[in-house]
Amino acid sequence: MVNLQPMTYIPKTFNLPVLKGISEEQIKVHLALYEGYVKNINLLLENNSANRFAFEFDGMRMHEYYFEELESGAVAPKTERQELITKIKEVAGTRGTGWVVVYYDKVMNTTHTLFVNDHELGQLSGLPIILALDLWEHAYMVDYVPAEKKNYIDAFFENLDWSVVEKRFDDAMKISAA
Ligand SMILES: [Fe+2]
Repeated sequence: MVNLQPMTYIPKTFNLPVLKGISEEQIKVHLALYEGYVKNINLLLENNSANRFAFEFDGMRMHEYYFEELESGAVAPKTERQELITKIKEVAGTRGTGWVVVYYDKVMNTTHTLFVNDHELGQLSGLPIILALDLWEHAYMVDYVPAEKKNYIDAFFENLDWSVVEKRFDDAMKISAA
């Protein structure tokens, strides 16, 4: 049964390993920001307020997608994912701050890879998220200056656990088959 009572989201704990090219301090700062979203969504729920609900909710959830991808250490992609990696890197070159988000679309049995400037706007309705790459400056500016964004993107891929991505593909396809 759906829970309609007031509720509290609990910040997830991510047991992140030592990452290549992304420092512990960077992760610490970024996790604190994530926890701020959780705190704020809980405040909105407590006050029965819809004010910027999507901003806080999506900020929370997108960071959970992101950190989960880095949690278990690097797992190499399947050869067939090379095309997707090239696409993600191409989209990641978009000027501005935001996210690169990969969605799975069951209608066409394909992925859509977008640059999402504001996570509460411009996401694709109902499509499962397969991969989220945080390209807000807060995600890398402890370690890199803005001109070095590409180095951060490379570091992200060096640490990415592709088994998480593959599980999301599998789950998305199961939903599609239902
Ligand atoms: Fe972030």
